[in-house]
Amino acid sequence: MTETALGLYIHWPYCARICPYCDFNVYRARGADDELFAAIMVDLDFWSGKMPGRKLTSIHFGGGTPSLLTPHQIAALIERAAKRFGFHNNIEIGLEANPNDCDGFQGFASAGVNRLSLGVQSFYDDALIALGRDHDGSASRKALDKALGVFERVSIDLIYAREGQSLDAWATELGDALKTGPDHLSLYQLTIEPGTAFDKRVARGDLKPPGENIAEQLFRLTQTVCAEHGFEPYEISNHARPGSDSRHNRLYWEGADWIGIGPGAHGRIGSHATGGRALTETALRPADYIRRVSETGTGSTSSTLSALDEVRERILMGMRISDGLDLARIEQLTGLTVDHVEAARYVEQGWLSISDHRLAFTPEGRLLADGIAAAICP
Ligand SMILES: C[S@@+](CC[C@H](N)C(=O)[O-])C[C@H]1O[C@@H](n2cnc3c(N)ncnc32)[C@H](O)[C@@H]1O
Ligand code: SF4
Repeated sequence: MTETALGLYIHWPYCARICPYCDFNVYRARGADDELFAAIMVDLDFWSGKMPGRKLTSIHFGGGTPSLLTPHQIAALIERAAKRFGFHNNIEIGLEANPNDCDGFQGFASAGVNRLSLGVQSFYDDALIALGRDHDGSASRKALDKALGVFERVSIDLIYAREGQSLDAWATELGDALKTGPDHLSLYQLTIEPGTAFDKRVARGDLKPPGENIAEQLFRLTQTVCAEHGFEPYEISNHARPGSDSRHNRLYWEGADWIGIGPGAHGRIGSHATGGRALTETALRPADYIRRVSETGTGSTSSTLSALDEVRERILMGMRISDGLDLARIEQLTGLTVDHVEAARYVEQGWLSISDHRLAFTPEGRLLADGIAAAICP
């Protein structure tokens, strides 16, 4: 059996401004938090001690806004990871950046980052104002141009299904974005998350996101426009030129192993077949994380998923990618498998397909992805 890939996720939870739609584990940045940075270093050392002989296949700096870290800090984390774990050839080192932080791009690349994921969200001023972003369209374009000149691989995040967005307007915006040069796009439908400022505005009637019908049409249009430009929908929200998939994100969908450090980061290691799949989670608040690291050497607590929870998670995540689910592997790892009777029902309806023992959504089935994936779980 080939060695399971191992990724390292580092969560930097601070943002210059908290966006009104966001429910990630984020906090308003009030200057550098050197204590948090130091705690993350200690946690990295802890995990390297737990995984002797395992080299990293990817590192991902996520957030929050990890582009608020200095290039020097990013370099120090990458160097420490290289020293403690070692790197596989072609390691992917990705970083999420906000357009306003583009002055650091050259420094991040010199530090070893080889894939930048740029949160432009839109190239239009009015859309960025509506989303409560702290940059305008020209800052989005400037940051993208800079990123393309500096990094081997560039992805952009766009949010669609915004209030009042027509199909024609999205087709134009997306078509223009696809021509700007990134090799990968993460295209997210605006989701109204409970407890966010947008959620309150919706409750008051001040914000009216598109209904389900329009959202479905926007999703279909997204698939068509991306296909016309040679971008494949390798995951529900992610489109890439052939060969430009995010290897780190694939870890999550393919159920490989990853360590999560920094406040609110999750990890998964192992499988039922190797003695149980560990679920690790860290304290959410930076101060709690720092305290836990100083008391125990790590910010994480760990528990073991039951085989049933493990197989359900593997199905829900694995069905998101267009390659589909490797049924034999799922059974080998967990001793359990999908509900074949339910799956056969969806195959008959044209929403799932099976080939080479892989179960995947058809384009129509993707529209009902979450419900179908849940229904075929044991
Ligand atoms: C964790 S954020 C980090 C990126 C970076 N901080 C930024 O905002 O540019 C990752 C992406 O999630 C998306 N996102 C966050 N909240 C969302 C929501 N409620 N609906 C749709 N997309 C969302 C945005 O596209 C964002 O770029
Ligand atoms: S969308 Fe990005 S910048 Fe905005 S609050 Fe969330 S993580 Fe921070």
